[in-house]
Amino acid sequence: MNQTLIVIPTYNEKDNILRLISAIEQKKIAADVLVVDDNSPDGTGKLVDELSKKRSWVYILHRKEKAGLGKAYIAGFKWGLEKKYKKLISMDADFSHPVDVLPALIDLCNTKTVAIGSRYVKGGKIVGWQLNRYFNSWGANFVTRTLLMIKAKDATAGFKCYPAEFLKVINLDNIQSSGYAFQPEMLLLAQNNGFKLRETPITFVDRQVGSSKIQGELVKSARIVFGLALRQKTLRQFVKFGIVGAINSLVDWGIFYLLKIVLPGVFTSLNLQTIKQIAKAISFTVSAISSYIMNRKWTFRSTRSGVGREAVKFLVVATGGFLINNVTFYLVTARAGWRDIFGLIIATAAATFWNFILNKKWTFKGL
Ligand code: GDD
Ligand code: MN
Repeated sequence: MNQTLIVIPTYNEKDNILRLISAIEQKKIAADVLVVDDNSPDGTGKLVDELSKKRSWVYILHRKEKAGLGKAYIAGFKWGLEKKYKKLISMDADFSHPVDVLPALIDLCNTKTVAIGSRYVKGGKIVGWQLNRYFNSWGANFVTRTLLMIKAKDATAGFKCYPAEFLKVINLDNIQSSGYAFQPEMLLLAQNNGFKLRETPITFVDRQVGSSKIQGELVKSARIVFGLALRQKTLRQFVKFGIVGAINSLVDWGIFYLLKIVLPGVFTSLNLQTIKQIAKAISFTVSAISSYIMNRKWTFRSTRSGVGREAVKFLVVATGGFLINNVTFYLVTARAGWRDIFGLIIATAAATFWNFILNKKWTFKGL
């Protein structure tokens, strides 16, 4: 028995699967093969049944009905863990994942590292996709990577090698995705459990025979990715931080307009411009303090002592954010000559990112 198991889910792959297994054999890959077939109507399962009688290292797991790529892998990995394999590979049946790269993938994979056959690192390529499929995939990958903060270039890759240590640590029954979102979900789990992600380039060649099962899966997968993202602490904090920012902008304006009405009656000797400057200073201070309190209590849930030090840091960051806001607005409107509304949007976004990142990494470090 080999230490490595290649898990290949199949649904209607009769013209691919036997050829793929024989390519694995010819290239003398030191691995066993487990095909997980969802009762393919085209008889893929029967073909592999026959072959597995002749090849001791080829196994098949039959499942009753098509239940999705993720479910097939979960079943395959459980089977492999029971049999004590050390490394478990996920691979498509349709030759999109190059057999030649298997040795490199297996090498890269170790007790602390999940290895990825990657289309989007240097040396990686995609061959045979039409432009729209390419953009869909690139877009899906970009959104997934950003939302889940996945530290790999190819977050939706299907060609991977997982150490048994990782698959044992996570509870395979808790995986959310039944379909294609399984791929990024596994990377997220790896990252969150302290495993490294490493990539080796592949040339992904579009299938020659049979058809992709990915159509109609996009919306379902996207929903799962968004759901997973919202459960990530940093993104949740970012959303809350944005809400706090929006509320306190209203506080800022509200107080400013109120004071502009009230103050002239109190300080009758001051001119309107001076009154406005005073009103602005007060409204900014109040809204900054109120944002600090809301972010401390709600966004970052800080229970630390040293409120003073935290508050000072928060104000320093906010001052930086204020400058960035203004400079960006100036650059976008005066220099680039864009309309004010774009200046406002871009400047607010720039300042928000700055404020969030610095507060997260400095003011509320470690929370
Ligand atoms: N058992 C089982 N059940 N197998 C399935 C199912 C299912 O419900 N759905 C798909 N498969 C099998 C296919 O037979 C194939 O062997 C493999 O899973 C990949 O399916 P494809 O339909 O060929 O996927 P793709 O080429 O569109 O997508 C590939 O690239 C994506 C990224 O662009 C896969 O590698 C994906 O995992 C990857 O996310
Ligand atoms: Mn495919």
